[in-house]
Amino acid sequence: MRNKYAVIFVFIVALVIIEKENNIISRVSDKLTPRQNPHAPPKPNISAVDPLKPNGSSPSSSSCPLSEPSATFTPPRRHVENVTEPPRQYSNGGRHVLLLAATRTGSSFVGEFFNQQDGTMFYLFEPLWHVERKLAMATGGTSASVFAQTYRDVLQQLFLCDFTLLERFIEPPPVDHVTAALFRRESSASLCEESVCTPVVKDVFERYHCKERPCGPLNFTLASQSCLRKVHRAIKTVRVRQLESLRPLVEDPRLDVRVIQLVRDPRAVLASRMVAFSYKYKNWKQWQVNGEVPIDDDEVKRLKGNCDSVRMSAEVGLRRPAWLQRRYMLVRYEDIARYPMQKATEMYRFSGIPFTSQVREWIRKNTQASSEASGVYSTQKNSSKQVEKWRFTIPFNLAQMVQKVCGPTMKLFGYRFVNDEDMLTNKSYSLLDEKIFHFS
Ligand SMILES: *[C@@H]1O[C@H](CO)[C@@H](O)[C@H](O)[C@H]1NC(C)=O
Ligand SMILES: *[C@@H]1O[C@H](CO)[C@@H](O)[C@H](O)[C@H]1NC(C)=O
Ligand SMILES: *[C@@H]1O[C@H](CO)[C@@H](O)[C@H](O)[C@H]1NC(C)=O
Ligand SMILES: *[C@@H]1O[C@H](CO)[C@@H](O)[C@H](O)[C@H]1NC(C)=O
Ligand SMILES: *[C@@H]1O[C@H](CO)[C@@H](O)[C@H](O)[C@H]1NC(C)=O
Ligand SMILES: *[C@@H]1O[C@H](CO)[C@@H](O)[C@H](O)[C@H]1NC(C)=O
Repeated sequence: MRNKYAVIFVFIVALVIIEKENNIISRVSDKLTPRQNPHAPPKPNISAVDPLKPNGSSPSSSSCPLSEPSATFTPPRRHVENVTEPPRQYSNGGRHVLLLAATRTGSSFVGEFFNQQDGTMFYLFEPLWHVERKLAMATGGTSASVFAQTYRDVLQQLFLCDFTLLERFIEPPPVDHVTAALFRRESSASLCEESVCTPVVKDVFERYHCKERPCGPLNFTLASQSCLRKVHRAIKTVRVRQLESLRPLVEDPRLDVRVIQLVRDPRAVLASRMVAFSYKYKNWKQWQVNGEVPIDDDEVKRLKGNCDSVRMSAEVGLRRPAWLQRRYMLVRYEDIARYPMQKATEMYRFSGIPFTSQVREWIRKNTQASSEASGVYSTQKNSSKQVEKWRFTIPFNLAQMVQKVCGPTMKLFGYRFVNDEDMLTNKSYSLLDEKIFHFS
């Protein structure tokens, strides 16, 4: 009898907690979505000069539909009637490349392939960092769907050179669209070029300040103008977990989105994370010592979750649904490291963007050699050598554990299992199946 009451009591407590969490989430999304916030800062007046606006569209329908809140976001309707023109037509052939990855998969390095194209390319490095941070603080990081919707809406605006939604997530909030707090600003050549570079302001500290030239805090109005002048836009992100959640973005007729999903051997990812974020991996190091890996540990579950979401996204892409026709490409980091020039050429061909000598030169320089490599986000390395280094830093029992929880993911991407320590560390045994992922 007492047990029964206990169960009911627990049930009620759970309900109360869930209800509370829902409240927090909806309050947060209210605060963060534009329409429900009457005090939103005005949008910069940029729609008038948007070069990507298709010619036929009326100004009222295309001016700012993105200010709709995420909750009521509906994918733009396709023309189903007999329209003479194809649904997507751009005055300048502008492309929108989304580089989709997970952390420690070499995405900073691959992002440079696009960042280095600075004449016609507007490149953003991990803008969703701010979004994740603020949402996580506000919600306790619980609601995956709120995250996914918000990520998508922010990306959509950014591809249209509109920073207003992103600005809401930056802490401290930008003043008059100016901020000194943009994460990794210096990793976007476009945010440090001359037209975006304002005079240095004394006594203002910008952690991620431009390295090429001294600049004052970032003025988003200038950034937006620069973005509009560029033909192509590319964004790198490690935060989108489900490709499916991007469907409305991919179907947006104002955009010509190409998604490049970058994957890497999960054993290598774990090894790299253990070095880069060692403070988070105390347990792993413990397991490394005593040889036991508890399979129901939260960390292990997280690893499994990461592997599963990467695999599920790839499965969606490789299935080639109509909405992704010619818009999805899967690339293994290991292939890029082995054949950087060839893979970059393929990525550019897929994106429909001319592969310039500037990019080629950067790749040549940065995949050959370097003793200058430094820092956990460094992109300068002898790539074909670096890519296998993890085999000597991860102990066999952890590699084995990854194989256990990430098995289906590894099989899909063609990463071979190892059966013992010798196999792991013997480089004449390749861990890579030659695999071609067809995309068209
Ligand atoms: C926006 O720009 C257009 C064209 O440059 C101009 O006609 C219009 O008055 C501007 N609107 C605002 C609110 O500044
Ligand atoms: C579609 O085409 C048919 C014949 O060509 C025409 O009669 C009809 O009005 C068109 N419909 C629309 C919505 O334009
Ligand atoms: C769009 O309109 C401009 C000016 O009217 C014209 O120069 C351009 O060729 C048009 N582009 C397309 C794709 O129709
Ligand atoms: C940012 O740049 C715009 C465009 O040049 C300018 O009008 C605005 O005053 C600048 N904002 C600040 C705070 O300097
Ligand atoms: C880069 O690494 C590869 C593979 O180990 C090696 O063959 C090559 O000589 C290295 N390049 C330089 C310039 O160190
Ligand atoms: C590595 O594997 C190759 C081929 O299986 C073998 O010939 C070689 O002896 C191995 N090397 C070591 C150090 O075990």
